[in-house]
Amino acid sequence: MSSLTGIRVCVFDAYGTIFDFASAAAQCSAIPQDRRAALTALWRDKQLQYTWLRSLQGQYVDFWQVTGDALDFALDSFDIATPALRAQLMDLYATLSAFPEVPQTLLSLRQAGFRTAILSNGSPSMLDTAVRGAGLEDLFDAVLSADAVGVFKTDPRVYQYALTRLGVTADEVSFQSSNAWDAFAASAFGMRVVWCNRYAQRRERLPGAPDHEVRSLAELPGLLAAKS
Ligand code: LAC
Repeated sequence: MSSLTGIRVCVFDAYGTIFDFASAAAQCSAIPQDRRAALTALWRDKQLQYTWLRSLQGQYVDFWQVTGDALDFALDSFDIATPALRAQLMDLYATLSAFPEVPQTLLSLRQAGFRTAILSNGSPSMLDTAVRGAGLEDLFDAVLSADAVGVFKTDPRVYQYALTRLGVTADEVSFQSSNAWDAFAASAFGMRVVWCNRYAQRRERLPGAPDHEVRSLAELPGLLAAKS
């Protein structure tokens, strides 16, 4: 596939793309080892559903509350809900690990002259804590939250907010997300999209068509034509 040309900013989704949301339950010794992956999946599925449902209903609350509500549902479903476990998992979620290739990828992009940014459903304080916790604070030019718009991705106003804040047009953005729904929506919006398909998901049957599909963000610098 051809390289992406005319890109000025690389914009990244946060959860699942920069930060490994599975690292919360994976580090929680209070949950039996063989249930951690299933808890992570249910927690994540509910968290995403709640963002979309609340957006449809016009009932926005920030992503920290959505994440807590989804965790409550998941812990209840597994019959392991206690205040202490909830608090421990929320603390772990606040400081998720970054995927291993992230720091070097961001450094390479910036050295090649690209600006870098996050566009996430995460609330500003969640994103600030996560970025600092992973030591990435010097590697992003902007950390943008859907909270400023009061609705979640995939509402097009959230992708538009990034353009407005960054002062670029959609075709000057390379948007990276590991979430297929997010990658397809950003593409339908008009951004150039690299789908970081970490989890070997199938393609969505939704509007949009990512320009590239990769398994790791380490492949990104090689897809971008050097900036003049
Ligand atoms: C994000 C989540 C939803 O927007 O992946 O960062």
